[in-house]
Amino acid sequence: MTAMYWIFAAVAVMLGSVFCYLYAVTWIESRQAENLLGKQPYVAAPINTSRTAVVYFSRSGNTALAARHVAKRLQAQLFPLNAPDYELGLLGLTQALNDANARRSQTDLLPEITPRTIDLAPFDTVWLGSPVWLYSPAPPIWAFVEHNRFDGLHVVLFNTFNSHVGEEYVAKLKDKVTARGAKSFEHRRMLRGRMTQQITPEQMLHAIDEEWFSK
Ligand SMILES: Cc1cc2nc3c(=O)[nH]c(=O)nc-3n(C[C@H](O)[C@H](O)[C@H](O)COP(=O)(O)O)c2cc1C
Repeated sequence: MTAMYWIFAAVAVMLGSVFCYLYAVTWIESRQAENLLGKQPYVAAPINTSRTAVVYFSRSGNTALAARHVAKRLQAQLFPLNAPDYELGLLGLTQALNDANARRSQTDLLPEITPRTIDLAPFDTVWLGSPVWLYSPAPPIWAFVEHNRFDGLHVVLFNTFNSHVGEEYVAKLKDKVTARGAKSFEHRRMLRGRMTQQITPEQMLHAIDEEWFSK
């Protein structure tokens, strides 16, 4: 009986800790999203002849900010991808973790995204932006790659992340876009730091200028 009591107590403490952790993460994410929303606004000119497209998925706004900054610098067309399964909040976070984990063994598992396809024929270069989830670019960007062709395009994958991106996943994404017609591929990364020690949005934009554009 005493042993059972301690087992239940340990499980309850464990579940409580997981819940508190996830709740804290969603709280930080929501604050970030709110704070980033108005930063670096960008609307492409109505008649835009730019040969560069920036397509991105972002859950809590960091990749979106990077995407707007890149698009502004390049005067590019900007295409956000929406993935309703991963809305901010506990449910979306749990689903994100669940799907990112499931994709490790079931690579054909793809979430719903809007838009599913974009006509990339008018472009020479497409930047594909995504956060990193469980070391891999997040599922929505894999879905976009799966549903589209990249014939003759230079593809630049860019990721924002907290600590680590798995090179093997970047290599797989490169293989995918190449198999779907891309003529060349580059990867740009933006390490933001762990939850409590992250760089500010301004520092991130400065780092993008320095690391992605000053070569
Ligand atoms: C479900 C989930 C899994 C994550 N996994 C990782 C990871 O494996 N490595 C990492 O460095 N960051 C990871 N992160 C952090 C995000 O990549 C990082 O905060 C990113 O900048 C968020 O971009 P966004 O604001 O555009 O959504 C994860 C975030 C979420 C929500």
